[in-house]
Amino acid sequence: MKHALLTALISALRRKSTPFSVLDTHAGIGTYDLSGPQAQSTGEWRDGIGRLLDTDPATPALASLQPWLNVVRDIIRAHDGKLFYPGSPELVAKLLRPGDTLTCCELHPEDQRSLKSLFRNNPAVSVHGRDAYAAIAALLPPRTAKRGLVLMDPPFEQRDEFARLTHAVIEARTRFPAGIVAAWYPIKHGAPPRAFLHALKDAGQRNLLTAELTLRPPLDPTRLNGCGLLIANPPYQFEEDARSILNALCPYLGETETRATVEWVVPE
Ligand SMILES: C[S@@+](CC[C@H](N)C(=O)[O-])C[C@H]1O[C@@H](n2cnc3c(N)ncnc32)[C@H](O)[C@@H]1O
Repeated sequence: MKHALLTALISALRRKSTPFSVLDTHAGIGTYDLSGPQAQSTGEWRDGIGRLLDTDPATPALASLQPWLNVVRDIIRAHDGKLFYPGSPELVAKLLRPGDTLTCCELHPEDQRSLKSLFRNNPAVSVHGRDAYAAIAALLPPRTAKRGLVLMDPPFEQRDEFARLTHAVIEARTRFPAGIVAAWYPIKHGAPPRAFLHALKDAGQRNLLTAELTLRPPLDPTRLNGCGLLIANPPYQFEEDARSILNALCPYLGETETRATVEWVVPE
């Protein structure tokens, strides 16, 4: 869901000819080998991207997913048909035009090395070993473009991640008011994400849209029941794009209780 929506955000930035820049604050390793031991041991991908790769690209109901799935298929082709899946940095890098730039932050030293190696021949992409939240203060507004996107995708391994994300969204928007800010969050029990969105609203933030997909009612706090993407300053008509993407995904993810919502937390 995150990567399909991210592709739609980048597509919107590509509609204007002036360059844009993307800051990916929690970048990961860039490309995931789905046949590798880690992906094989959980097998989670089979109930996600696996189901979508089995579909016919000409299926009308899946049209909104094709810009993203086309990048995924290109990456698989580039690896001689082996199942390699692009994470956010690789996905964005594939969609940059000459003059556009991507800055990635990844704190984990091994992941950082993988990312640096992936982009060693790509001058449009820079990789930093900085802390994501420190990077927002250090790297915004971007030096290379007046418009762009900040993607925040923390691992939610720390108890205060929602609070840190709240501050980070506010800080990113203060430093880069024209930028789009997208922040991913998990939905285990419904209460923490609601509190996160309320905190942003109470802080006076405006123009906030959320796209959420749940696989089952978010009642069990020990399970990842769904996830959401908060989008601040969404591009023109992104609300409709997000709805088409989520509606296309719903029949392929989860079992029978999958639900999608796209709604304004605070309008413009
Ligand atoms: C959910 S993964 C990112 C996935 C990636 N955005 C994608 O879509 O492919 C989160 C990543 O953030 C990194 N990370 C965790 N805390 C961080 C921090 N404070 N600053 C930068 N990176 C961090 C982790 O090492 C991990 O690789």
